[in-house]
Amino acid sequence: MIKEITAKELDIEGFINEKITEIKEIVGDGMAINALSGGVDSSTVTMLGHRALGNRLKTVFVDNGIMRQGEAGRVVDLFRDLGVKVEVIDAREDFFSAFKGITDPEEKREAVTQTFYRDVFGHIIKESGAKYLLQGTILTDVDETIAGIKRQHNVFEQLGIDPEEAFGYRIIEPLIQLRKDGVRIIGKALGLPPEIFKRIPFPGPALAARVIGEVTPERIETVRKATAVVEELLKDTGAFQYMAILHQDRVTGMRDGKRDFGQQIEVRCWDSVDARAATPTRLSFEVLEKVAGELIRSVPGIVSVTYNIAPKPPSTIEVV
Ligand code: XMP
Repeated sequence: MIKEITAKELDIEGFINEKITEIKEIVGDGMAINALSGGVDSSTVTMLGHRALGNRLKTVFVDNGIMRQGEAGRVVDLFRDLGVKVEVIDAREDFFSAFKGITDPEEKREAVTQTFYRDVFGHIIKESGAKYLLQGTILTDVDETIAGIKRQHNVFEQLGIDPEEAFGYRIIEPLIQLRKDGVRIIGKALGLPPEIFKRIPFPGPALAARVIGEVTPERIETVRKATAVVEELLKDTGAFQYMAILHQDRVTGMRDGKRDFGQQIEVRCWDSVDARAATPTRLSFEVLEKVAGELIRSVPGIVSVTYNIAPKPPSTIEVV
């Protein structure tokens, strides 16, 4: 049973010092690999790990082909300014071949897990001689996995999986007692800029969590463009998280006076404190119309845009 530390009771300096000491003790004089995705959790872990291990921490950004527009370059530049060197690993082929033919959400999540941990990190760890992987798992990831809601991509021990046996390395999870609000506080204290510690959450399975049905490079490109539009137009809402989802079903539409059997984008925008429960943000119709207009204009093939108004539960934040 993991003991939760709430944002309210968090002793910021005490927590940071304790985690730095823990990481140092576990890794000893060896090397560790750090998995950075550019989200709030992994960015915070990167800063902790960097403080604990310095050059003995190798930070990698896995370009899995399912990240948001311009993400790899943005993450590398941002961390360079913070004094952290980030190596980009091209794993696009590995991921897209793992997704081939899969439509079931849990199978998709399992494909992400196996490709990350067995194939990509397994390979990097073997090459570098490191024995440890540092990652930003938080308590909400563990809860939802144990409850059987979703198999979060980064949870093992609590499912009875020993990463050392399964993949050949140990996993260090310094943030596992925190939820998103606590992580933001620690990230800020470690010197991350607001554009990171305030950033909306983004799931480990990335845009694959936002495509209903098969994940292909073409379908990812559609949802990536739609995501850029939704993130830009909803950034001032103050909402917890907002996203675009590509539906599987096509629907009849019309373009230039002719039938166009096109695609549907669902927009979601959530108010929440820690992702355990959430309600749809009461966006004005004006804002919704603006989002729909821009999606139709700038994302090829879209003929229908909907807004999800069901709360979590019974919805979940992501669609997969
Ligand atoms: P759901 O969709 O379960 O999402 O309501 C709750 C929060 O967790 C994020 N999420 C994930 N984060 N790995 C992650 O690191 C995952 O597999 C994963 N699935 C969902 C989601 O974006 C939301 O903030």
